[in-house]
Amino acid sequence: MAIRNIREIGDKVLYKVSKEVKEVDKRLLVLINDMLDTMYEANGVGLAAPQVGILKRVVVIDVSEEGNNPLVLINPVILETEGEQTGDEGCLSVPGKVGTVTRPNYVKVKAYDKDMKEFVVEGTGLLARCLCHEIDHLDGKLYVDQTIDGLRNVTEDVEEEI
Ligand code: NI
Repeated sequence: MAIRNIREIGDKVLYKVSKEVKEVDKRLLVLINDMLDTMYEANGVGLAAPQVGILKRVVVIDVSEEGNNPLVLINPVILETEGEQTGDEGCLSVPGKVGTVTRPNYVKVKAYDKDMKEFVVEGTGLLARCLCHEIDHLDGKLYVDQTIDGLRNVTEDVEEEI
């Protein structure tokens, strides 16, 4: 188990476009495991590789209440979106802040798993929001630039950060 340092807003790496993964080698598997450990340790529901300083198109997500249903996406691409949801969003790279963002309410995403086998995941609600947020990270985009009315300080004890 290895916890990696989470890069924070202002760090140049968060604004760069990540590169496609060509093959899953030992190094990438270590990265994926470390990303999962780092996300769970930080009580996040999603983490993208650039958030730990690695410019590769890798995302981990777990929106389950128990935190025992990890989803690993390599080279994820949004195929379809539908509807709209407007709600609060946070990010492990923007600690203590939250902002309101409008996202699709449904997304269909194509990605590759650790065996480089293609799969499709469909999500609504929080999962859809999380998929969009994390894929934005791979393109160097932060939610802070998409808020309806800027950032607020987190006041609740528990806030989901993705
Ligand atoms: Ni984030």
